[in-house]
Amino acid sequence: MTNVVVVGTQWGDEGKGKVVDLYAEDADVIARFQGGNNAGHTLVVNGEQTILHLIPSGILHDHKICIIGNGVVVDPAVMVQEIDRLQSRSLFPADTKLLVSENAHLIMPYHRSLDMARESRKTGKKIGTTGRGIGPAYEDKVARVGIRFCDLLDDMIFREKLKSNVEEKNFFLTKLFGEAPLDEQQIYDEYRVYAERLEPHVANTSLIMEREMRMGKKILFEGAQGCHLDIDHGTFPYVTSSNTVAGNASCGTGIGPLAIGAVVGICKAYTTRVGEGPFVTELTCEIGQRIQNMGQEFGATTGRKRRCGWLDMVLVKQSIRVSGITGIAVTKLDVLTGIEKLKICVGYKNHAGEEFTESVPPNLRILSECQPVYQELDGWTEDISHAKLISDLPKNARRYVERLEMLAGIPLTLVSVGAGRESTIVLKNPFSD
Ligand code: GDP
Ligand code: IMO
Ligand code: MG
Repeated sequence: MTNVVVVGTQWGDEGKGKVVDLYAEDADVIARFQGGNNAGHTLVVNGEQTILHLIPSGILHDHKICIIGNGVVVDPAVMVQEIDRLQSRSLFPADTKLLVSENAHLIMPYHRSLDMARESRKTGKKIGTTGRGIGPAYEDKVARVGIRFCDLLDDMIFREKLKSNVEEKNFFLTKLFGEAPLDEQQIYDEYRVYAERLEPHVANTSLIMEREMRMGKKILFEGAQGCHLDIDHGTFPYVTSSNTVAGNASCGTGIGPLAIGAVVGICKAYTTRVGEGPFVTELTCEIGQRIQNMGQEFGATTGRKRRCGWLDMVLVKQSIRVSGITGIAVTKLDVLTGIEKLKICVGYKNHAGEEFTESVPPNLRILSECQPVYQELDGWTEDISHAKLISDLPKNARRYVERLEMLAGIPLTLVSVGAGRESTIVLKNPFSD
């Protein structure tokens, strides 16, 4: 038995929430390790949909410990709201604990204001952020001026840090962006309420996880975003502000890397992207529209339409390498039903005839010249949403996933054919060696 990390292999929204909810059954601790409420993870249980932005996707299960690790940036307003919403729907089991690391940094109102002010100024050069203050919160962490949960719980430290931060941020907001200044006292009063509400959840989560592991308990690490939104390994600057790759499961929770035994990469059967940035296999034609409609490809956080395109194995292969992925979970295969000819991108070619098959070129000028090299496969028309075994799939759907597996060079752990927990073909249990 081992601990498992789940990460996205594309640009997010691969179906991590569904898979984490499914694997949570076999785990004792479910931990988020990076990102914040820019994430939107959708779970469908007994036909009922729940979208989680901050709370780990194990929360619907009894007898679990859900952890928001030190690597996450936490908007306390969202955390309180999410707890309240789950409780009001009786979806927060009384015997499941929710803990947040005392080292996790807080998203403050000035982070959201700066995020939105920058985005509205960057005409033509927008990143298309979620506007949740993620980038500015990570900037403050790296600049060593950020406010952590342990600071929030110490009134003197919080006052002091808030004062110097508001002073600095108001300078930028008013002088550079022409925005109204924020009121320090108002933020102070608002955050005192969060401090009181959230204090029972704040803990040394690294220590708790280590104790659990010593007792033989299993940990499931829940990645947010996707490997190509990673600050180091993604399509910079069109990325998020954290390391989304599996290695950060260790840093982002305070657990040594040897605790991780398996990494499951979630791979949508096609590709989507929300926000700006390069997208070699993007389909701006009618097929792209069809995938967008059939897959209900709207952002779970911002409601924006997701851009859609063919499956891109250059992206997936790079993710397998940088995250050390040991198994692939294919999702949303059902969305491709009814498309006559399907394409899988196996390489990019630029004007000079150079080919890229394992890595996305980091130079955006070179990348913008790249054309996809496709393999074409026949589609299928049969309804596959009730398939429970690979052998239940029509021949061409089987061929599609077999080709994906062959190109990935690692085994598949599951194939998802619908949003519900039950609409899954399970091939391997990543917790057993
Ligand atoms: P995440 O951010 O990776 O957790 O993914 P999102 O929740 O943002 O987006 C995935 C969307 O696809 C959600 O609406 C899920 O309910 C849905 N979904 C997940 N797996 C499947 C599947 O196999 N088929 C279909 N049709 N929908 C799926
Ligand atoms: P989940 O976990 C898809 C994208 C934004 C934008 C870029 C930077 O649901 O897969 P940010 O607000 O993080 O500074 O925005 O990253 N982005 C996501 N796209 N899924 C997500 O999360 C995302 N989180 C951020 O659209 O392009
Ligand atoms: Mg999402």
